[in-house]
Amino acid sequence: MSTQRPRLSVIGTGYLGATHAVCMVELGYEVIGLDVDTEKIGRLAKGEVPFYEPGLPELLTKHATNPRLRFTTSYEEAAEFADVHFICVGTPQKKGEYSADLRYVEAAFTSLSPHLSRKALVVGKSTVPAGTAARMEKLMRSLTPTKDVELAWNPEFLREGLAVQDTMHPDRLVFGVNSDWAEQQLRAAFAPMIEEGTPVIVTDFATAELVKVAANSFLATKISFINAMAEVCEATGADVTALADAIGHDERIGHRFLRSGLGFGGGCLPKDIRAFIARAGELGVDQAVSFLREVDEINLRRRARTLELGLDLVDGTYRGTRIAVLGAAFKPNSDDVRDSPALDVAASIERRGGDVVIYDPHAIENARRVHPGLIYVESLEEALLGADVTMLLTEWDEFRSMDPAVVGKFVGQRNIVDGRNVLDPVRWRRAGWRYRALGRP
Ligand code: UGA
Repeated sequence: MSTQRPRLSVIGTGYLGATHAVCMVELGYEVIGLDVDTEKIGRLAKGEVPFYEPGLPELLTKHATNPRLRFTTSYEEAAEFADVHFICVGTPQKKGEYSADLRYVEAAFTSLSPHLSRKALVVGKSTVPAGTAARMEKLMRSLTPTKDVELAWNPEFLREGLAVQDTMHPDRLVFGVNSDWAEQQLRAAFAPMIEEGTPVIVTDFATAELVKVAANSFLATKISFINAMAEVCEATGADVTALADAIGHDERIGHRFLRSGLGFGGGCLPKDIRAFIARAGELGVDQAVSFLREVDEINLRRRARTLELGLDLVDGTYRGTRIAVLGAAFKPNSDDVRDSPALDVAASIERRGGDVVIYDPHAIENARRVHPGLIYVESLEEALLGADVTMLLTEWDEFRSMDPAVVGKFVGQRNIVDGRNVLDPVRWRRAGWRYRALGRP
């Protein structure tokens, strides 16, 4: 095997895996992408990205006919082709439980291992509870025909919407390894990033697994901290945006991840902190992370508070009102609606009798799959038409840049809830709108 440029396989071609596969080709590697979803693989093989991720379609088009990139549904083919295998499958929250559902990770190891007949490194990238890597190593060794296969854990920190940039230029690389050989393979697999100075932290499995959940827990805590301050601001008449700006100038605190509003969602932060709580319980250290329950609760309270702000504008009942919901994705520049605060609020209003009309620049198709009963439209103007209240719930640029005078012509009543604190209250009020926001007078 060449340590210069190992051949790579990427198992699981969702937001993480597809991006990883295409970016590694761009960086000069030979890559095979594998997924059990034949439709997804068919689309990728045709040069089509099956989800919205800025910059990725251009990169995939560029390499669509590049012989260094191919896609397959065959584990046998992937095992034969690659020296380093990246496991990038999802670890969603279990239904009705806090813990992570590891069935896709287990299935990937179970399916790949019997085909690994020569020296290879398998690298877990999926976010998993501490202890999983050690368990997967045992599982793998019990199934591989050769003893020459090793495991490493290499958590991924990319953000959806910025996935290409984060993959090509990560701010750090974490290698959880058991041998120098495994470290050298990973160094070879990430050579371009290491050459540009990316710090590498070499550690054991458990630390590598924990780095990822600790990082997401910290980020979630930072958001819930400012949202807790928003609650206090609401009780005192203070403005949380000014407060965040002021405390963020302290370099030890910083401005990033201090945007208050409807809170965090997505396929990562919410389920990662819950899985962490569950795992800490199993390990007998529940108290160490019990604050994460509060982080979760603060986050969910923001959704309830947003409903109240809207209710205040329709005199106490949503029944018989028309509500324009702007945004369905869990954040802008993504079509991901997993645990989306915006969709959650929209569905709650509908349950309370409101006629909800939702517009999102890219997430309508996914939203419709999750909540087929809601009404979706193709443009901002259609959503606004005749609305009694307009609710900005995902801060796409198209919504941030709305002109209150212009959009005021479409709505039934000039009532707006700014669920992301991105509009200028003075400007909107001056244009005749009743403006409500979280943590702002
Ligand atoms: C998050 C982490 O930021 C990544 O580092 C990590 O790799 C990823 O999870 C993962 O575990 O795979 P992502 O879920 O794509 O990335 O999105 P973020 O940009 O972290 O945003 C998460 C949520 O927090 C969004 O709903 C966003 O609207 C919200 N948020 C973010 C705030 O409410 N306020 C902020 O100041 C920042």
